[in-house]
Amino acid sequence: MTDNSFPFDIRPVDGTENDNLQKYFQGFKYIRVGPKNYFLINGYTEGAAYIYNMPLRPDDVFVASFPRSGTTWTQELVWLLANNLDYSTAANVSLQKRYFFLEQSLFMTEEIKEKILKDNTNTEKNPLDDYNIPRAEETAKLPSPRFLKTHLPMSLLPPNLLDTTKVVYVARDPRDVAVSYYHLSKLFKVSEYLGDFKSYWGFFIKDMVNWAPFFEHLKEAWQLRNHPNMLFLFYEELSKDLPTTVQRVADFLGKQITKDQLAELCSHLSIDNFKKNSSVNYNEAKNSGILTANESFIRKGKSGGWRDSFDEEMTREADIWIAKNLEDTDLRFPSML
Ligand code: A3P
Repeated sequence: MTDNSFPFDIRPVDGTENDNLQKYFQGFKYIRVGPKNYFLINGYTEGAAYIYNMPLRPDDVFVASFPRSGTTWTQELVWLLANNLDYSTAANVSLQKRYFFLEQSLFMTEEIKEKILKDNTNTEKNPLDDYNIPRAEETAKLPSPRFLKTHLPMSLLPPNLLDTTKVVYVARDPRDVAVSYYHLSKLFKVSEYLGDFKSYWGFFIKDMVNWAPFFEHLKEAWQLRNHPNMLFLFYEELSKDLPTTVQRVADFLGKQITKDQLAELCSHLSIDNFKKNSSVNYNEAKNSGILTANESFIRKGKSGGWRDSFDEEMTREADIWIAKNLEDTDLRFPSML
Protein backbone atom coordinates (compact mmCIF):
# COMPACT_ATOMS: atom_id res chain seq x y z
CA MET A 1 0.00 0.00 0.00
CA THR A 2 1.26 3.44 -0.87
CA ASP A 3 1.20 6.15 1.76
CA ASN A 4 -1.14 8.91 0.75
CA SER A 5 0.01 11.76 2.93
CA PHE A 6 1.13 15.04 1.45
CA PRO A 7 2.67 17.55 3.86
CA PHE A 8 1.99 20.78 1.98
CA ASP A 9 -1.13 22.88 1.62
CA ILE A 10 -2.51 23.62 -1.83
CA ARG A 11 -4.30 26.93 -2.36
CA PRO A 12 -6.10 28.29 -5.42
CA VAL A 13 -4.66 31.40 -6.99
CA ASP A 14 -7.39 33.99 -6.97
CA GLY A 15 -8.06 37.72 -6.67
CA THR A 16 -6.11 40.19 -8.76
CA GLU A 17 -3.34 37.73 -9.40
CA ASN A 18 -5.81 35.38 -11.04
CA ASP A 19 -7.57 38.18 -13.00
CA ASN A 20 -4.21 39.13 -14.44
CA LEU A 21 -3.37 35.56 -15.42
CA GLN A 22 -6.73 34.98 -17.09
CA LYS A 23 -6.05 37.80 -19.55
CA TYR A 24 -2.99 36.01 -20.90
CA PHE A 25 -3.29 32.31 -20.17
CA GLN A 26 -6.77 31.51 -21.45
CA GLY A 27 -8.84 30.33 -18.54
CA PHE A 28 -6.58 27.87 -16.75
CA LYS A 29 -6.90 27.47 -13.02
CA TYR A 30 -3.73 27.80 -11.01
CA ILE A 31 -2.69 26.82 -7.53
CA ARG A 32 0.12 27.57 -5.09
CA VAL A 33 1.74 24.75 -3.18
CA GLY A 34 3.47 24.72 0.20
CA PRO A 35 5.62 27.34 1.93
CA LYS A 36 7.60 28.15 -1.20
CA ASN A 37 4.43 28.89 -3.15
CA TYR A 38 5.13 26.62 -6.07
CA PHE A 39 2.89 27.71 -8.91
CA LEU A 40 1.18 24.92 -10.83
CA ILE A 41 -1.94 24.12 -12.76
CA ASN A 42 -4.84 22.85 -10.61
CA GLY A 43 -4.62 19.30 -12.03
CA TYR A 44 -1.49 18.76 -9.93
CA THR A 45 -3.66 18.54 -6.80
CA GLU A 46 -4.92 15.14 -7.87
CA GLY A 47 -1.50 13.51 -8.21
CA ALA A 48 0.55 15.40 -5.60
CA ALA A 49 0.34 12.73 -2.87
CA TYR A 50 1.02 9.80 -5.19
CA ILE A 51 4.13 11.43 -6.60
CA TYR A 52 5.37 12.46 -3.16
CA ASN A 53 5.04 8.87 -1.89
CA MET A 54 5.76 6.96 -5.08
CA PRO A 55 7.67 3.71 -4.69
CA LEU A 56 11.20 4.12 -6.01
CA ARG A 57 13.72 1.60 -7.30
CA PRO A 58 17.50 1.78 -6.83
CA ASP A 59 18.07 1.65 -10.59
CA ASP A 60 15.70 4.53 -11.42
CA VAL A 61 17.27 7.50 -13.14
CA PHE A 62 15.63 10.91 -12.80
CA VAL A 63 16.33 13.93 -15.00
CA ALA A 64 14.98 16.97 -13.18
CA SER A 65 14.95 20.65 -14.06
CA PHE A 66 13.04 23.88 -14.22
CA PRO A 67 11.42 23.88 -17.71
CA ARG A 68 13.55 25.06 -20.66
CA SER A 69 16.84 24.52 -18.88
CA GLY A 70 18.19 21.83 -21.22
CA THR A 71 16.08 18.90 -19.98
CA THR A 72 15.71 17.23 -23.39
CA TRP A 73 19.43 17.57 -24.10
CA THR A 74 20.30 16.05 -20.73
CA GLN A 75 17.70 13.28 -21.11
CA GLU A 76 19.15 12.09 -24.42
CA LEU A 77 22.68 12.25 -23.03
CA VAL A 78 21.78 10.32 -19.87
CA TRP A 79 19.72 7.72 -21.74
CA LEU A 80 22.43 6.98 -24.28
CA LEU A 81 25.13 6.63 -21.64
CA ALA A 82 22.93 4.41 -19.50
CA ASN A 83 21.97 2.25 -22.48
CA ASN A 84 25.40 1.45 -23.93
CA LEU A 85 25.07 4.09 -26.64
CA ASP A 86 22.16 2.34 -28.33
CA TYR A 87 21.67 4.90 -31.11
CA SER A 88 19.35 2.59 -32.97
CA THR A 89 16.71 2.46 -30.21
CA ALA A 90 17.25 6.16 -29.56
CA ALA A 91 16.35 6.85 -33.20
CA ASN A 92 13.38 4.49 -33.31
CA VAL A 93 11.75 5.13 -29.94
CA SER A 94 11.01 8.76 -29.18
CA LEU A 95 12.48 10.36 -26.07
CA GLN A 96 8.92 10.86 -24.85
CA LYS A 97 8.48 7.10 -24.83
CA ARG A 98 11.89 6.35 -23.35
CA TYR A 99 11.21 8.62 -20.37
CA PHE A 100 8.13 8.85 -18.22
CA PHE A 101 7.26 12.51 -17.62
CA LEU A 102 6.08 12.15 -14.05
CA GLU A 103 3.55 14.95 -13.67
CA GLN A 104 2.56 15.36 -17.30
CA SER A 105 -0.90 13.80 -17.04
CA LEU A 106 -1.78 16.26 -14.28
CA PHE A 107 -1.56 19.00 -16.86
CA MET A 108 -4.20 17.28 -18.97
CA THR A 109 -7.13 18.63 -17.01
CA GLU A 110 -10.68 18.29 -18.31
CA GLU A 111 -10.58 21.97 -19.37
CA ILE A 112 -7.44 21.35 -21.39
CA LYS A 113 -8.80 18.20 -23.01
CA GLU A 114 -11.93 20.09 -23.99
CA LYS A 115 -9.83 22.83 -25.47
CA ILE A 116 -7.71 20.40 -27.48
CA LEU A 117 -10.84 18.81 -28.93
CA LYS A 118 -12.34 22.19 -29.73
CA ASP A 119 -9.16 23.39 -31.45
CA ASN A 120 -8.84 20.25 -33.57
CA THR A 121 -12.30 19.74 -34.99
CA ASN A 122 -10.97 19.69 -38.55
CA THR A 123 -8.72 16.66 -38.02
CA GLU A 124 -10.26 13.26 -38.72
CA LYS A 125 -8.81 11.57 -35.67
CA ASN A 126 -9.38 12.42 -32.03
CA PRO A 127 -6.03 14.06 -31.11
CA LEU A 128 -6.28 12.66 -27.60
CA ASP A 129 -6.18 9.07 -28.93
CA ASP A 130 -2.62 9.49 -30.13
CA TYR A 131 -1.56 11.45 -27.14
CA ASN A 132 -2.68 9.36 -24.26
CA ILE A 133 -0.64 10.52 -21.28
CA PRO A 134 -0.37 7.89 -18.55
CA ARG A 135 -0.90 8.85 -14.94
CA ALA A 136 2.03 8.78 -12.50
CA GLU A 137 0.66 5.54 -10.97
CA GLU A 138 1.56 3.79 -14.24
CA THR A 139 5.24 4.13 -13.34
CA ALA A 140 4.74 1.12 -11.07
CA LYS A 141 4.21 -1.05 -14.14
CA LEU A 142 7.31 0.08 -16.04
CA PRO A 143 10.19 -2.35 -16.50
CA SER A 144 13.49 -1.49 -14.83
CA PRO A 145 15.52 0.57 -15.24
CA ARG A 146 13.02 3.42 -15.36
CA PHE A 147 13.94 6.79 -16.84
CA LEU A 148 11.88 9.59 -15.35
CA LYS A 149 11.63 13.24 -16.29
CA THR A 150 10.23 15.82 -13.92
CA HIS A 151 10.03 19.56 -13.55
CA LEU A 152 8.89 19.27 -9.97
CA PRO A 153 11.22 20.77 -7.36
CA MET A 154 13.01 18.39 -5.01
CA SER A 155 10.67 19.22 -2.12
CA LEU A 156 7.64 17.88 -4.01
CA LEU A 157 9.38 14.62 -4.92
CA PRO A 158 9.72 11.65 -2.54
CA PRO A 159 11.88 12.60 0.46
CA ASN A 160 13.91 9.38 0.05
CA LEU A 161 14.66 10.13 -3.61
CA LEU A 162 18.41 10.69 -3.35
CA ASP A 163 18.88 7.92 -0.83
CA THR A 164 17.37 5.50 -3.31
CA THR A 165 18.15 6.61 -6.81
CA LYS A 166 20.19 8.87 -9.07
CA VAL A 167 19.12 12.37 -10.09
CA VAL A 168 20.65 14.54 -12.78
CA TYR A 169 19.46 18.12 -12.34
CA VAL A 170 20.10 20.74 -15.00
CA ALA A 171 19.92 24.51 -14.45
CA ARG A 172 20.23 27.48 -16.82
CA ASP A 173 20.56 31.26 -16.74
CA PRO A 174 17.01 32.45 -15.96
CA ARG A 175 17.06 35.08 -18.71
CA ASP A 176 17.60 32.39 -21.36
CA VAL A 177 15.03 30.21 -19.60
CA ALA A 178 12.46 33.01 -19.73
CA VAL A 179 12.91 33.59 -23.46
CA SER A 180 12.78 29.89 -24.21
CA TYR A 181 9.76 29.37 -21.94
CA TYR A 182 7.93 32.20 -23.69
CA HIS A 183 8.42 30.45 -27.02
CA LEU A 184 7.26 27.17 -25.49
CA SER A 185 4.05 28.81 -24.30
CA LYS A 186 3.42 29.81 -27.88
CA LEU A 187 4.18 26.27 -29.03
CA PHE A 188 1.50 24.58 -26.95
CA LYS A 189 -1.81 25.30 -28.64
CA VAL A 190 -3.76 24.76 -25.45
CA SER A 191 -1.85 27.21 -23.36
CA GLU A 192 -0.95 29.59 -26.13
CA TYR A 193 0.25 32.71 -24.39
CA LEU A 194 -1.53 35.80 -25.62
CA GLY A 195 0.95 38.54 -24.77
CA ASP A 196 4.39 39.65 -25.91
CA PHE A 197 7.69 38.68 -24.34
CA LYS A 198 7.83 41.74 -22.11
CA SER A 199 4.54 40.88 -20.43
CA TYR A 200 5.64 37.22 -20.14
CA TRP A 201 8.81 38.34 -18.40
CA GLY A 202 6.59 40.21 -15.92
CA PHE A 203 4.87 36.92 -15.04
CA PHE A 204 8.17 35.06 -14.94
CA ILE A 205 9.79 37.28 -12.30
CA LYS A 206 6.59 37.31 -10.25
CA ASP A 207 6.78 33.49 -10.12
CA MET A 208 3.57 33.16 -12.12
CA VAL A 209 4.62 30.51 -14.63
CA ASN A 210 4.26 26.76 -14.12
CA TRP A 211 6.82 25.24 -11.71
CA ALA A 212 7.98 28.71 -10.49
CA PRO A 213 9.52 30.14 -8.30
CA PHE A 214 12.57 29.62 -10.45
CA PHE A 215 15.11 30.41 -7.75
CA GLU A 216 13.55 28.25 -5.04
CA HIS A 217 13.50 25.37 -7.52
CA LEU A 218 17.20 25.73 -8.28
CA LYS A 219 18.27 26.39 -4.71
CA GLU A 220 16.61 23.22 -3.46
CA ALA A 221 18.62 21.14 -5.92
CA TRP A 222 21.79 23.20 -5.43
CA GLN A 223 21.73 22.48 -1.70
CA LEU A 224 21.79 18.78 -2.50
CA ARG A 225 24.51 18.99 -5.16
CA ASN A 226 27.12 17.22 -3.04
CA HIS A 227 24.96 14.17 -2.40
CA PRO A 228 26.62 11.22 -4.16
CA ASN A 229 23.37 10.47 -6.00
CA MET A 230 22.90 14.01 -7.29
CA LEU A 231 24.61 15.48 -10.32
CA PHE A 232 23.97 19.21 -10.69
CA LEU A 233 24.72 20.48 -14.20
CA PHE A 234 24.41 23.85 -15.88
CA TYR A 235 23.18 24.22 -19.45
CA GLU A 236 26.08 26.63 -19.90
CA GLU A 237 28.56 23.87 -19.02
CA LEU A 238 27.06 21.59 -21.66
CA SER A 239 27.15 24.48 -24.07
CA LYS A 240 30.72 25.55 -23.37
CA ASP A 241 32.43 22.19 -23.02
CA LEU A 242 30.20 19.30 -24.01
CA PRO A 243 32.90 16.55 -23.91
CA THR A 244 33.96 17.36 -20.33
CA THR A 245 30.35 17.55 -19.18
CA VAL A 246 29.44 14.28 -20.94
CA GLN A 247 32.41 12.64 -19.20
CA ARG A 248 31.13 13.92 -15.84
CA VAL A 249 27.72 12.36 -16.54
CA ALA A 250 29.39 9.08 -17.58
CA ASP A 251 31.42 9.02 -14.35
CA PHE A 252 28.29 9.76 -12.33
CA LEU A 253 26.45 6.88 -13.98
CA GLY A 254 29.48 4.59 -13.61
CA LYS A 255 29.88 4.17 -17.37
CA GLN A 256 33.12 3.83 -19.34
CA ILE A 257 33.36 5.68 -22.63
CA THR A 258 36.21 5.70 -25.15
CA LYS A 259 37.53 8.83 -26.83
CA ASP A 260 35.85 7.90 -30.11
CA GLN A 261 32.55 7.12 -28.43
CA LEU A 262 32.71 10.47 -26.64
CA ALA A 263 33.29 12.30 -29.92
CA GLU A 264 30.40 10.45 -31.59
CA LEU A 265 28.07 11.20 -28.69
CA CYS A 266 28.97 14.89 -28.69
CA SER A 267 28.25 15.06 -32.39
CA HIS A 268 24.88 13.33 -31.85
CA LEU A 269 24.08 15.89 -29.14
CA SER A 270 25.09 18.95 -31.16
CA ILE A 271 22.28 21.43 -31.71
CA ASP A 272 22.42 20.98 -35.49
CA ASN A 273 21.96 17.23 -35.24
CA PHE A 274 19.37 17.62 -32.50
CA LYS A 275 17.24 19.90 -34.64
CA LYS A 276 17.12 17.19 -37.30
CA ASN A 277 16.48 14.37 -34.81
CA SER A 278 12.76 13.57 -34.96
CA SER A 279 13.06 11.33 -31.91
CA VAL A 280 13.69 14.29 -29.57
CA ASN A 281 11.40 16.90 -31.16
CA TYR A 282 8.03 16.00 -29.66
CA ASN A 283 6.63 15.04 -33.04
CA GLU A 284 3.83 12.94 -31.51
CA ALA A 285 2.43 16.06 -29.89
CA LYS A 286 2.80 17.96 -33.13
CA ASN A 287 1.08 15.22 -35.13
CA SER A 288 -1.84 15.12 -32.74
CA GLY A 289 -2.36 18.88 -32.96
CA ILE A 290 -1.32 19.68 -29.41
CA LEU A 291 1.69 21.63 -30.54
CA THR A 292 1.53 24.22 -33.28
CA ALA A 293 3.65 23.58 -36.34
CA ASN A 294 4.95 27.14 -36.32
CA GLU A 295 7.52 26.81 -33.54
CA SER A 296 9.84 23.94 -32.75
CA PHE A 297 10.60 22.34 -29.39
CA ILE A 298 14.35 22.34 -30.00
CA ARG A 299 14.97 25.95 -30.87
CA LYS A 300 18.16 28.05 -31.06
CA GLY A 301 20.16 26.21 -28.43
CA LYS A 302 22.32 29.22 -27.58
CA SER A 303 23.67 30.48 -24.34
CA GLY A 304 23.17 34.22 -23.79
CA GLY A 305 20.59 34.60 -26.56
CA TRP A 306 18.38 36.53 -24.11
CA ARG A 307 20.20 39.73 -25.08
CA ASP A 308 18.23 39.84 -28.33
CA SER A 309 14.91 39.89 -26.48
CA PHE A 310 15.56 42.14 -23.47
CA ASP A 311 15.32 45.93 -23.59
CA GLU A 312 17.28 48.11 -21.14
CA GLU A 313 14.49 48.21 -18.60
CA MET A 314 14.14 44.41 -18.56
CA THR A 315 17.91 43.98 -18.35
CA ARG A 316 18.01 46.24 -15.27
CA GLU A 317 15.04 44.44 -13.78
CA ALA A 318 16.76 41.10 -14.35
CA ASP A 319 19.99 42.29 -12.73
CA ILE A 320 18.12 43.39 -9.61
CA TRP A 321 15.94 40.27 -9.45
CA ILE A 322 18.91 37.92 -9.90
CA ALA A 323 21.12 39.76 -7.39
CA LYS A 324 18.36 39.73 -4.79
CA ASN A 325 17.76 36.02 -5.22
CA LEU A 326 21.44 35.12 -5.09
CA GLU A 327 22.04 37.03 -1.84
CA ASP A 328 21.51 34.04 0.43
CA THR A 329 23.21 31.35 -1.64
CA ASP A 330 26.57 30.51 -3.22
CA LEU A 331 24.77 29.37 -6.39
CA ARG A 332 26.32 31.21 -9.34
CA PHE A 333 25.49 30.75 -13.02
CA PRO A 334 28.57 30.13 -15.20
CA SER A 335 27.22 32.81 -17.56
CA MET A 336 27.51 35.42 -14.81
CA LEU A 337 31.03 34.68 -13.59
P1 A3P B 1 16.21 27.65 -26.60
O1 A3P B 1 14.72 27.84 -26.65
O2 A3P B 1 16.93 28.78 -25.91
O3 A3P B 1 16.81 27.34 -27.92
P2 A3P B 1 14.07 21.88 -22.26
O4 A3P B 1 14.48 20.64 -22.96
O5 A3P B 1 14.38 21.90 -20.81
O6 A3P B 1 12.68 22.27 -22.58
O7 A3P B 1 15.01 23.04 -22.83
C1 A3P B 1 14.86 23.51 -24.13
C2 A3P B 1 16.01 24.41 -24.47
O8 A3P B 1 17.20 23.61 -24.64
C3 A3P B 1 15.78 25.13 -25.78
O9 A3P B 1 16.48 26.38 -25.66
C4 A3P B 1 16.45 24.18 -26.76
O10 A3P B 1 16.75 24.73 -28.01
C5 A3P B 1 17.71 23.83 -25.96
N1 A3P B 1 18.36 22.62 -26.47
C6 A3P B 1 17.78 21.43 -26.72
N2 A3P B 1 18.66 20.58 -27.25
C7 A3P B 1 19.83 21.25 -27.35
C8 A3P B 1 21.13 20.90 -27.85
N3 A3P B 1 21.39 19.71 -28.35
N4 A3P B 1 22.09 21.85 -27.80
C9 A3P B 1 21.84 23.07 -27.28
N5 A3P B 1 20.63 23.46 -26.81
C10 A3P B 1 19.64 22.55 -26.85
